[in-house]
Amino acid sequence: MTDHLKKFKRYTVTAALPYANGPVHIGHLAGVYIPADIYVRYLRLKKEDVVFICGSDEHGVPITIKARQEGVGPQEIVDKYHEIIKRSFAGFGIGFDIYSRTSNLIHHETASGFFSTLYEKGEFVEKTSMQLYDEENKQFLADRYITGTCPHCGYDKAYGDQCENCGTSLSPTELINPRSVLSGNEPVMKETKHWFLPLDKYSDWLTEWILEGHKDDWKTNVYGQCKSWIDQGLQPRAVTRDLDWGVKVPLDEAKGKVLYVWFDAPIGYISATREWAEHQNTLQEKGGNDQVIDWELYWKDKETKLVHFIGKDNIVFHCIVFPGMLRAEGSYILPENVPANEFLNLENEKISTSRNWAVWLHEYLEEFPGQQDVLRYVLTANAPETKDNDFTWKDFQTRNNSELVAIFGNFVNRTLVLAHKYFDGKVPAAAGLTAIDEEVLATIQSLPSRVSHSLEHYRFREALSEMMNLARAGNKYLTENEPWKLIKTDPERVKTIINISLQVCANLAVLSAPFLPFSSEKLYRMLNLDVLPWSQAGQPDLLKAGHELKPAELLFSRIEDEAIEKQVQKLLKTKEANNNNISSVNSSKPEISYEDFLKMDIRTATILEAEKVPKTKKLLKLRIDTGIDQRMVVSGIAEFFEPEDIIGKQVSVLVNLAPRNIKGIESHGMILMAEDSKGRLFFVSPAGKIENGSEVK
Ligand code: MF3
Ligand code: ZN
Repeated sequence: MTDHLKKFKRYTVTAALPYANGPVHIGHLAGVYIPADIYVRYLRLKKEDVVFICGSDEHGVPITIKARQEGVGPQEIVDKYHEIIKRSFAGFGIGFDIYSRTSNLIHHETASGFFSTLYEKGEFVEKTSMQLYDEENKQFLADRYITGTCPHCGYDKAYGDQCENCGTSLSPTELINPRSVLSGNEPVMKETKHWFLPLDKYSDWLTEWILEGHKDDWKTNVYGQCKSWIDQGLQPRAVTRDLDWGVKVPLDEAKGKVLYVWFDAPIGYISATREWAEHQNTLQEKGGNDQVIDWELYWKDKETKLVHFIGKDNIVFHCIVFPGMLRAEGSYILPENVPANEFLNLENEKISTSRNWAVWLHEYLEEFPGQQDVLRYVLTANAPETKDNDFTWKDFQTRNNSELVAIFGNFVNRTLVLAHKYFDGKVPAAAGLTAIDEEVLATIQSLPSRVSHSLEHYRFREALSEMMNLARAGNKYLTENEPWKLIKTDPERVKTIINISLQVCANLAVLSAPFLPFSSEKLYRMLNLDVLPWSQAGQPDLLKAGHELKPAELLFSRIEDEAIEKQVQKLLKTKEANNNNISSVNSSKPEISYEDFLKMDIRTATILEAEKVPKTKKLLKLRIDTGIDQRMVVSGIAEFFEPEDIIGKQVSVLVNLAPRNIKGIESHGMILMAEDSKGRLFFVSPAGKIENGSEVK
């Protein structure tokens, strides 16, 4: 049965544990934490039993690499970023029940216990294999410790676990021309033993559970990725690593090995739930309450709905690997839904932590104090729900000024100011409703279920715009009725108009609460109302006649051009700094001898034929005449040149490069290209016509 139709007793909602290797930015908020928070706030207003879990992911190569870069130990890194991240989330009102961390003892115990259970049940496959090893640093090169050329798209900065250019997941031994990130050396092969989760054996079960069972209720982007993983054929996945940072593998024969970060991190959701329950139980004991929270109900009871909020790069781990682990363990429930978002870009470029191309949440909180809801609003209205989306500062300003300020804020402000001015801050009574009144009341009544419907289908943009429709309707109602004119001729009618406008305000307080918690709270305060449950939304009399209102406050304020210009300038500076970096990096290769140089046989050659390598973005297959012979070369230049434009072109070629297999094609040599600071490629061609095979020296 599909997710939305089943009734559940309680909810466990998780948001991806961010790596504690840097601060969090708008991409994190838009992709994961805001939708998760909206969903949870909505459930809480519906009085559902829900626990909202998150924490820092503090293991894995992303952490140790960052520590190396900053010249400190990994513990120092995670301590620093855990605090920054935690504060940023709190600043935006992301209401986790617990924000834990995977370096906690309870997590090490839970994760290592989970491993032992699977081990004892015989769920792992043990394999000894040859792995890449850095002799200088005496270390195996797992995941991001290794870079090289992607065998699928030719991108030359792919990692040992994934190519960030084409998104393919890789194993280190697949990389072409692999290099150790630690020393820059070419790695050697060395034998090592690891434990694997045999995903290949889960294929039938996954087909039934996801491809047949969740065809209708999982988002198409999520379903599509799962289908393509399953269709491609699943492989056993190593769940251990030769590293010294992480959860120790609880086996005597596994000295110096830790659990793979993607094995331990999702178990972090479980550890955090345990920690939360323990904490709640101590609090309750102290308060003399003997109601005990049992964490297991949140993970093992069939009437619990488990929902994982994540970004698209986490899909395989949450839809295939983690469910596989849970099922192998045997006593856990599986996620009912995994609403993953796509990516958010910033001013038309991919957000990048290493290039500092981001809007950092801790900086926003300082630079736009009290304006958390503006960013929450813009990121929801613009959420990358079905495709990648773009954040621009201009759009941020427009949405604030012409939606939040001009519609929502303006309506609420006019209503409250008039109520104070004409009726001394007391809710006037409504009488003798006209068709135009009935129309607004019908809107009030119909909206809660529309918003609910969208939220329950994880369509947060749609839900937000439905909520705004109520503000729009209120604004229009006030403008069309012009109570400021009528007050002279028909004061009785004005009572009704203000009463109804105030009812719209009260309904807005309820409906906006999941999206704009800070503003909703302000609105409740002005209306002098306690927070109402969702079930009350839709009613035309949330405020009784005679009820006393508090003074009007401004809900939203205009954002001026200067503030926006400042942010745009900040990004321009980042761009300049990045461009300068590129040129300095390129000039810093180590010195080589003349003999080293002489080893290269570079010749002039002519391109005879050129065609795109199918299913790649960057690769062209070229037949060239080197003067010595005719041969095939695969070159990563397809983004810059059309095949038909370069036929007949004279180029320089390194002809004695060892042949390499790229996408199933043997490449014999390398066309020399110059790359400018923007990453554009240019041929290094002889200045005049010259015979093929001429030596470049
Ligand atoms: N740290 C991972 C990332 O940022 C997400 C981990 S989610 C969890 O991509 F399931 F592993 F916790
Ligand atoms: Zn690739």
